[in-house]
Amino acid sequence: MSDRTPHFEGDAPTYGRPSRPEVAAAEARSAACPPAEPGEHRLCSLDELVDGGVRRFDVGDRELAVIRLGSTVYVIGDRCSHQDISLALGEVDPDDLVLECPKHGSGFHLETGEPSSLPATRPVPVYDVVVSDGDVSVVIPEAQS
Ligand code: FES
Repeated sequence: MSDRTPHFEGDAPTYGRPSRPEVAAAEARSAACPPAEPGEHRLCSLDELVDGGVRRFDVGDRELAVIRLGSTVYVIGDRCSHQDISLALGEVDPDDLVLECPKHGSGFHLETGEPSSLPATRPVPVYDVVVSDGDVSVVIPEAQS
């Protein structure tokens, strides 16, 4: 007779939802940072971003993935909506305008934040970007009530 009781090494699978440690880590990060002030925040100069690459920035409690494609810069939320993974560790697909999650491969559209493939089903935030005089700024919107 076989033992059919599942057992797992490490955390049990969460089937698409963030695990408790992931939720706790996200809440701890958020609590440690003050909320981002609405308005424009300078991130860096355009030259500091690799063309075709992605770089992580934090503005207050906002975790941002910043992607440069030529002279265009996109900013989306850095945390995958499937699990608590940094999208800035993923790959940029410049043809489809997608940032691919490094863990399970969902792609997030750079203009809409919508996932283009499973397992993620929810969008990530998308932010307006201002590139002026060689400087890149992100626009944090007013909090919605
Ligand atoms: S963590 Fe699963 S798609 Fe990103």
